[in-house]
Amino acid sequence: MPGFAKRLERARVAPTIALTVRARELRASGADVVTLTIGEPDFATPPHAIAAAHAAALAGDTKYPPQDGTRALKQAVQRKYAREHGLDYGLDQIVVGNGGKQVIYDALLATVEEGDEVLIPTPFWSAYALMTHAVGGTPTFVSCPQNNGFRLRPEDLDAAITPRTRWLFLNFPNNPSGAACSPADLAALGEVMLKHPHVWILSDDMYEHLRYDDQEPSTLAAVEPRLADRVLTVSGVSKTYAMTGWRIGFGVGPKNLLRAMANTQGQVTAGVSTVGQAAAAAALDGPQDVVAASRASYRRRRDIVVDRLNDIPGLSCHRPEGAFYVFPNVAGCLDKISAGGRKISTDEDFAVALLEEEHVATVFGAAFGMSPYLRISYATDEAALEEGCRRIARFVAGLR
Ligand SMILES: Cc1ncc(COP(=O)(O)O)c(C=O)c1O
Repeated sequence: MPGFAKRLERARVAPTIALTVRARELRASGADVVTLTIGEPDFATPPHAIAAAHAAALAGDTKYPPQDGTRALKQAVQRKYAREHGLDYGLDQIVVGNGGKQVIYDALLATVEEGDEVLIPTPFWSAYALMTHAVGGTPTFVSCPQNNGFRLRPEDLDAAITPRTRWLFLNFPNNPSGAACSPADLAALGEVMLKHPHVWILSDDMYEHLRYDDQEPSTLAAVEPRLADRVLTVSGVSKTYAMTGWRIGFGVGPKNLLRAMANTQGQVTAGVSTVGQAAAAAALDGPQDVVAASRASYRRRRDIVVDRLNDIPGLSCHRPEGAFYVFPNVAGCLDKISAGGRKISTDEDFAVALLEEEHVATVFGAAFGMSPYLRISYATDEAALEEGCRRIARFVAGLR
């Protein structure tokens, strides 16, 4: 039989796959599963973005695009950063990818040598560690503790950087904790990074517009301009404009890094869907009231979920500032037996038993590098959230 590449050993499977498969099986067998795992908005893509894609296709915008993005989308990205952060990027400082995820992978592929460390504040989006492994790097971790609102402390950051650190990843508002940073928080982290000029910094701002603390979105590149030659800022239209399926993300930063990323990406894909780019440009340039409307709805849902969870003895849930996740602590539920006779020793045990016994799908904290927690996505309707919380309360009440 023909063989496989050694590098396949580095491509790890997401720790949540087994639970996802089990939830699908339960659903297929007719169970009424409440799904609180979804990392995508339940809203529709704005009609003006869809219309722009349609118009682009009819106008013949259907040929291979430039590999680093269409001029029209790059100009829309340029306007976005000027408007929102007062940042001025040239078109050669912008790359468009198939989602923010590809942009992050481009950056790692272009810069990480075997054994280089990628410093990931924890809890984290599991793809960071998986992608780091895939390119031969070593993920290292620094904790963002619950008692600091899941934000990164400057002193912890400083202590975690080594001579081998190649990247620091920042993701606020955060997946999975929902924690967001103020400009002062970012300035303090920036101050630390000025002392470590060998480290690139990736600011993953995918959830930048989904925050509920009435603070304007802020980003490290704007707060600390002295880091401009080392900061890659990544964002996209997936979460802000409910456009996950269009697969459009972008990165902005120093020219040399962005050129290297565009070259790397060019080996993998001959550019990004032209009609998707037209839709993304329309979303960025169009009316922003769609974002305000979804933000108001998410904020209401966050409050429902946090209030309901905090009413359950044994759970404690921090009220996060952003994204569409909450990250309740389940320490008070461990070392018990569920009503269905399962031993609950870890957050994974909790999530498995909750799925099997109450048909509520969540993700356990260990998948994001921090236990004992659950990630609950509130990107779903209020009725499902109320029902999910009712079932969680019943499950916890049944623990002995
Ligand atoms: C923190 C974070 N960054 C990036 C992404 C990827 O976004 P995209 O759909 O644009 O690839 C996600 C998606 O879940 C995410 O949670």
